[in-house]
Amino acid sequence: MLCLLIIFGAISWVNALPSAATCSNSLPKPNVPGAIVTSLTASVVRDYAVNITGESNNWPGQNITGLGFCQVNVSLTHPGTGDHVNNQVWLPLTGWNGIFLGVGGGGYVAGSWSSLAPAVERGYAAVSTDAGHAQNNSGDATSWALVSEGDVNQNLLLDFASRSIHDMTVLGKAVTTSFYGSSPKYAYWQGCSTGGRQGLMEAQMYPNDYDGIVASAPAINWNDFTPAQQWPYTVMNNEHYSPPQCEFDAVNAAAVAACDHLDGLQDGIIAAPGLCKFDPSSLVGKNYTCDTDGTTRRFSSKAATVVKKIWQGPTAANGTALWYGILPGTNFSSLAPTETFSNGTTVAEPFGISDSWFRDFLFKDANYNTSNITYAEFPGLIRQSHVEYDSIMGTMNANLSTFRAAGGKMITWQGLADNLIMPNGTMEYFSRVKALDQNVTDFYRVFFAPGVGHCGGGGSGPIPDDTLMALRKWVENGTAPEVLPGSSGFKVNGTIRHQNLCLYPLVSKYNGKGDPTSASSFTCAKNF
Ligand SMILES: *[C@@H]1O[C@H](CO)[C@@H](O)[C@H](O)[C@H]1NC(C)=O
Ligand SMILES: *[C@@H]1O[C@H](CO)[C@@H](O)[C@H](O)[C@H]1NC(C)=O
Ligand SMILES: *[C@@H]1O[C@H](CO)[C@@H](O)[C@H](O)[C@H]1NC(C)=O
Ligand SMILES: *[C@@H]1O[C@H](CO)[C@@H](O)[C@H](O)[C@H]1NC(C)=O
Ligand SMILES: *[C@@H]1O[C@H](CO)[C@@H](O)[C@H](O)[C@H]1NC(C)=O
Ligand SMILES: *[C@@H]1O[C@H](CO)[C@@H](O)[C@H](O)[C@H]1NC(C)=O
Ligand SMILES: *[C@@H]1O[C@H](CO)[C@@H](O)[C@H](O)[C@H]1NC(C)=O
Ligand SMILES: *[C@@H]1O[C@H](CO)[C@@H](O)[C@H](O)[C@H]1NC(C)=O
Ligand SMILES: *[C@@H]1O[C@H](CO)[C@@H](O)[C@H](O)[C@H]1NC(C)=O
Ligand SMILES: *[C@@H]1O[C@H](CO)[C@@H](O)[C@H](O)[C@H]1NC(C)=O
Ligand SMILES: *[C@@H]1O[C@H](CO)[C@@H](O)[C@H](O)[C@H]1NC(C)=O
Ligand SMILES: *[C@@H]1O[C@H](CO)[C@@H](O)[C@H](O)[C@H]1NC(C)=O
Repeated sequence: MLCLLIIFGAISWVNALPSAATCSNSLPKPNVPGAIVTSLTASVVRDYAVNITGESNNWPGQNITGLGFCQVNVSLTHPGTGDHVNNQVWLPLTGWNGIFLGVGGGGYVAGSWSSLAPAVERGYAAVSTDAGHAQNNSGDATSWALVSEGDVNQNLLLDFASRSIHDMTVLGKAVTTSFYGSSPKYAYWQGCSTGGRQGLMEAQMYPNDYDGIVASAPAINWNDFTPAQQWPYTVMNNEHYSPPQCEFDAVNAAAVAACDHLDGLQDGIIAAPGLCKFDPSSLVGKNYTCDTDGTTRRFSSKAATVVKKIWQGPTAANGTALWYGILPGTNFSSLAPTETFSNGTTVAEPFGISDSWFRDFLFKDANYNTSNITYAEFPGLIRQSHVEYDSIMGTMNANLSTFRAAGGKMITWQGLADNLIMPNGTMEYFSRVKALDQNVTDFYRVFFAPGVGHCGGGGSGPIPDDTLMALRKWVENGTAPEVLPGSSGFKVNGTIRHQNLCLYPLVSKYNGKGDPTSASSFTCAKNF
C-alpha cells in the first residue's frame, strides 16, 4: 500500500513538473486564428545569464544567472501579407507558478527575448513577440516602415499596433498548456511605454485575453503624442536657438527652486506641477552656472521662449493646443536633445522616435529632412497623423466595458516627470474612461509618481515596488490597491525613501512632520 502511494506520488510529480524531455520540437503547433504557424522549435536552455540595467517592464534592473527554461520559438505568417512574425515562449523547468505572462516592448520594438528572463526567474511562463520586424532599433522604424517610398507597410504596422499582441497571447497560452499539461490559472500582461499601449490595446480590442493588465506609462494616443514629441525640435529650429543642455538644466533647477515647496515638502521634486506657475521669462538676463563646464553664463530670452513653448506643447497659431507638453522639472535631454561642439556652437537634434514617425509614416520618405518644418505646417501634420493612424495605432478607445464584464483588472502608473510621454494624455484617457463608467476604479486604477521619469528611468521620486504583485492581489484575492507602495533608489541623506503612490486623482501629501523617507509621513489627500 505504502509502495503504491509512492508510485502514484512519483507519477503525479512527473505530471506536475514535466521533465526536460517534453521540451522538444514535437510540442504541438498551436492554432492561431488568422495565421499559419510556419515553425515551432523547442529546446532546453540552461544557465542563461543576462544583466538587465534599469527598470524593465516594472521590475528593477537585475543581473540574472543560471536560468533554466524550455525555449519555444513559434513563427507565423498571416496569409496574403508576406509577414514573418517570431515569438518566443519561455517556460520555467522548475517552480512554474501556474501563471502566464505577456511581456511588452518599447518604442518601435514590440518585445524582446531577454525581457522574458526576469519573468521566468520569478516563476512565470512568459511570451514576447517581434511583431514581424527587427528588435534591434526601438528608436527608428525606417528598417520596416515602408514597402517603398510613399507606401507604408500597413501589414507590419497592424502587426505592431495590435495583431501580434493577440497572436502571441493565443499561441503562448497554448504552448504553456501543452508543456505543463494544464492551462494557466491566470494570465497577466505587463508592459511599459509601448508595452503599456499594448496592454491597453488588449483591454480594448481583445478583452478576454488577460485577467489582469499592468499598462505603465502607456504610449496610447500614439498618433497625437508622437508628433508632439517632435515639437521641441521644431521649436528650436523655428526660434533659431538651441539651448545647451546646461541651460535647460538650469531652467529646471530654477523651476524646482520655485515650485518644490508647493506640495509641502522640499525634496528636490515638483510633486504639484499643476500649482507651479514658474515663468522662465523671469530668468532672462540672470546668471547661471553651466553644470557641464562650470562657467557662468547668462539666460537668454530665446531660451525662455523655447522652454515656454516646450512646456506648453504643440500649439496652433490661433492658440489652440494640439497636444500636451512635458511638465516642469522634467528633463529636456530626451525630447530636446542638443549637442554643443568644442567651438561653442550648439545644434538641435531630432528625437529618434518622432523623427522616424515624421519621415517614415507622415512623409513616407525615410530621407526626408525634418529640420525645416515650420510652425505653420505643424498643425496639419498632427491632423494628418490623427486622420491616417488613429484607428490603427491610437489605442485610445475609452470603452472598456467588455474587459470589465470579463472580470479584468488593470493598473496604470506613470511618472509625473515622464520625459517621453506626456502624463496629461494618460489623465485625459482616464477621464474619458471614467465619463463612460463612474465606477471605473472597480476595475481600472491609475497612479502617478512625482519626480519619476519614463518607465522609472531618470528622476529621483519613488517608483512602485511591485505593480504586478499589487495587480495579482486584486485579481486573485479581490484586494484592490488603494496605494502602490514605492521606493526610490535615490537616497535622501543616505536613506532609501519610501512613499505610497496614491490612487489618482488623490495626491501623496507630506504630513508636515516626520521622516520624509518614511511612507507613514505621507497621506493620500484630495489636494496639497
Ligand atoms: C530561438 O531563436 C533564437 C534566435 O532569436 C535562437 O538563438 C534560439 O536558438 C532559438 N531556439 C530554438 C529552440 O529554436
Ligand atoms: C553581468 O555583469 C557581471 C559584472 O557584474 C559580469 O561579470 C557578467 O559577465 C555580466 N553578464 C552578462 C551576461 O553580461
Ligand atoms: C550587474 O552587472 C553590471 C554590469 O553589466 C554591473 O555594473 C552591476 O554592478 C551588476 N550588479 C550586480 C548586483 O551585480
Ligand atoms: C537589425 O536587424 C536587421 C534585421 O535582422 C538587420 O538588417 C540590421 O542590420 C540590424 N541593425 C543593427 C543596427 O544591428
Ligand atoms: C496637466 O496635468 C497637470 C498635473 O495634473 C495639470 O495641473 C494640468 O492642468 C494639466 N494640463 C492640461 C492642459 O490639462
Ligand atoms: C553675471 O556674470 C558676469 C560675468 O561672469 C558678472 O560680471 C556679473 O557680475 C554677474 N551678475 C550677477 C548679478 O551675478
Ligand atoms: C485653430 O487652428 C487649428 C489648427 O489649424 C484649427 O484646427 C482650429 O479650428 C482653429 N481654431 C479656431 C477657433 O479658429
Ligand atoms: C562648430 O563646429 C561644428 C562641428 O564641427 C561645425 O559644424 C560648425 O560649423 C562650427 N561653427 C562655427 C561657428 O565655427
Ligand atoms: C527643407 O529642406 C529640404 C532639404 O534641405 C529642402 O529640399 C526643402 O525645400 C526645404 N523645405 C522647405 C519648406 O523649406
Ligand atoms: C456604481 O456602483 C455603485 C455601488 O456598487 C452602484 O450602486 C451604482 O449603481 C454603480 N453606478 C454605475 C453607473 O454603474
Ligand atoms: C492570496 O491570498 C492567499 C491566502 O491568504 C495567499 O496565500 C496568496 O499568496 C495571496 N495571493 C497573492 C497574489 O498575494
Ligand atoms: C539631510 O540632512 C541635512 C543635514 O543634516 C538636513 O539639513 C536636511 O534637512 C536633510 N534632508 C532631508 C530631506 O531630510
